[in-house]
Amino acid sequence: MRLITLQTKNTTYQMGVNEMGFLMHLYYGPRAEGDMSFLLDARDRGFSGNPYAAGMDRTFSPDVVPLEYPCYGNGDFRSPASNARDNRGVFGADLRFRDFRMKNGKYSISGLPAVYAGEEEAYTAEITLEDERLSLEVVLRYGVLPEQDVITRSVAVTNRGRDMVFLDKVYSTCIDFPGGEYDLLHFYGRHMMERNMERVPVIHGNQQFGSRRGMSGHQHNPFFILADKDTVEEHGSCYGLGFVYSGNFTFEAERDQHNQTRIQMGLPEEMFDWPLKPDETFYSPEAVMAYTAEGLTALSHIYHDLIREHICRGKYKKAGRPVLLNSWEAAYLDFDGDKLIEIARQAADLGLDMFVLDDGWFGDRDTDNSGLGDWVVNEKKLGGPLKRISDAVNAMGLKFGLWIEPEMVNEDSGLYREHPDWAFVIPGKKPVRCRNQLVLDFSRKEVVDYIFNSIAKVIDGANVEYINMDYNRSICDVFTAVEGCQNYGKIMYEYMLGVYDFLERMNRRWSDMLIEGCSGGGGRFDMGMLYYTPQIWCSDDTDAIERIRIHHGTSFCYPLCMVGSHVSAVPNHQTGRTVDFRTRGIVAMGGSFGYELDPGRLTDEEKAEVREQVRTYKENEHLMLNGDYFRLHTPGKDTEAAAWAFVSKDKNEALISIVSLDSHGNEPTTYIKIKGLRSDRMYHCEETGKTYSGAVLMHAGYPMPVVPGEYKAWQFHLRAQ
Ligand code: GLA
Repeated sequence: MRLITLQTKNTTYQMGVNEMGFLMHLYYGPRAEGDMSFLLDARDRGFSGNPYAAGMDRTFSPDVVPLEYPCYGNGDFRSPASNARDNRGVFGADLRFRDFRMKNGKYSISGLPAVYAGEEEAYTAEITLEDERLSLEVVLRYGVLPEQDVITRSVAVTNRGRDMVFLDKVYSTCIDFPGGEYDLLHFYGRHMMERNMERVPVIHGNQQFGSRRGMSGHQHNPFFILADKDTVEEHGSCYGLGFVYSGNFTFEAERDQHNQTRIQMGLPEEMFDWPLKPDETFYSPEAVMAYTAEGLTALSHIYHDLIREHICRGKYKKAGRPVLLNSWEAAYLDFDGDKLIEIARQAADLGLDMFVLDDGWFGDRDTDNSGLGDWVVNEKKLGGPLKRISDAVNAMGLKFGLWIEPEMVNEDSGLYREHPDWAFVIPGKKPVRCRNQLVLDFSRKEVVDYIFNSIAKVIDGANVEYINMDYNRSICDVFTAVEGCQNYGKIMYEYMLGVYDFLERMNRRWSDMLIEGCSGGGGRFDMGMLYYTPQIWCSDDTDAIERIRIHHGTSFCYPLCMVGSHVSAVPNHQTGRTVDFRTRGIVAMGGSFGYELDPGRLTDEEKAEVREQVRTYKENEHLMLNGDYFRLHTPGKDTEAAAWAFVSKDKNEALISIVSLDSHGNEPTTYIKIKGLRSDRMYHCEETGKTYSGAVLMHAGYPMPVVPGEYKAWQFHLRAQ
């Protein structure tokens, strides 16, 4: 058997090509040497067919061996990674190995976000498979980042024949595990409660998760973990699989008749029907795989480091983020220029770095029923041009930021009246409205051009140093007014290419601008967006206690410095809950920090706390930007306290945050076990003035202080001595 082996620092990924040209998956796990084909079990299995070329030998069936990139039609009856049909509608492919090559550096995918790396930091493996009948060439591309213990995958499918071929399914990755009994960790949610971690067994049958909303969505995040039953935060075998894409996706986990597990991920098969003309190539988005034997925390650290170093780009890849005040929960749509300037003045007085003007500054936008699409400053409302506001804000020593929602249009707007065909509406069907807005057809270049140019004019007309790019509905009614293909899957993919083109143009034109992604909070929180926006507003739920849970789930894949997180007013506007100002500050410091309230309503005591919070945040931000994050509790399981820690890579410095979740009479002591410290070092704590052993803090824990009342919070800064 011909072997293809990919090695990273701590992991090995091996494939094998048998004499009939089947590309099999042999092994993915701890680093190892040698031939792993002994793992294949050759037996005659009933109802699992054999390739013709095997002759009378009935011991090999694609239905029961681990395959690298399964297709429908070769006798594997599990869920395939790919499926195609000819121009008569006949399904049936049989992908066989043709060749393999390796090269230095990491491949990129034109028009799509992808992990990037220097020539010396990565290598690319390309395996070409082909199907004779359909004249299809399928190139499996692997980007190997040895130091990161990461392997990326993407697929390029080319029609080498003379007739049309229709692609019904082209997943980006598939991993077959011959043995094992696994749990699946997935991250479900809703608007205002994104990315809750749920751990379920992989059962016999096929479990599917994904999005058909045109966005990655609040409901399921495109990141999954497959773990051994006994894997916990600190130890155990686990695999991560994430998608570098912000649109529709599917993840499947299937346990088959012989207890083998297949996981795969890619663009959804549903309504996907890509017409591939002769000589055309289709490129799948990228998936990112990682393995560790060291538990869930170590897996998170792999993804955090990868995203910080090899996905995030631009000035803010390394730079500290401005502490901002956002106008949304301070004023919503109800403001004029003077009110904005007054809010900014208060923000400057509090020592913040930036004032962000959220929704409501453009077109006719006094309610959220109108104005989207008209990216012209409402000078009547603002009392003059935008520059008047940005100049006033800059004069106070603050940066100025602005909110946009480029992909949307209200029917009540000049743009819609002029170009009704630019919105996704199916002729003969009334469109589904959501927040009374429709989605612009970003698969059309002229639409992207127009929106980009009108927004660019606004940005260039004032000193805008930050953009919050929002997206506030799910996509329905997919129809493009351009002649040609109306396939849903194709339009939705090209829509995402249009969004990425828009974002790429923004990055190029204003290379120092901080762009924060947003989608009704964290509805498009994925590695695709993080390639363009080094920060994403994590949730429209700003309640500190709810945020603890949201940050916990988000942290499994995403670095916390990319999580937009603000202190808001109480009673909280989403939940009605009242939580101490200090607690709100400590929770918000679990992400990229800011405020979202009317500073004019703060008491003098709270204002003093703001100044203190900003100072604490700035002193510790380097731990979040460059250090490791540790989850010190599990929501739902640890009901007394929530806790988390940022620890420097050299383990010399740590910031521990603790929030009490309940309150009792004669309360038992809750011990918070710290993680990530050095057991052979003593640590001095700034807040208590005492010195503690790293080993004891990690083994026995720190006794949570008892203060009457709910939701009290503490922060401890530890420094190794
Ligand atoms: C979304 C965002 C909010 C705010 C509003 C404005 O809900 O998540 O932060 O910007 O839109 O309409």
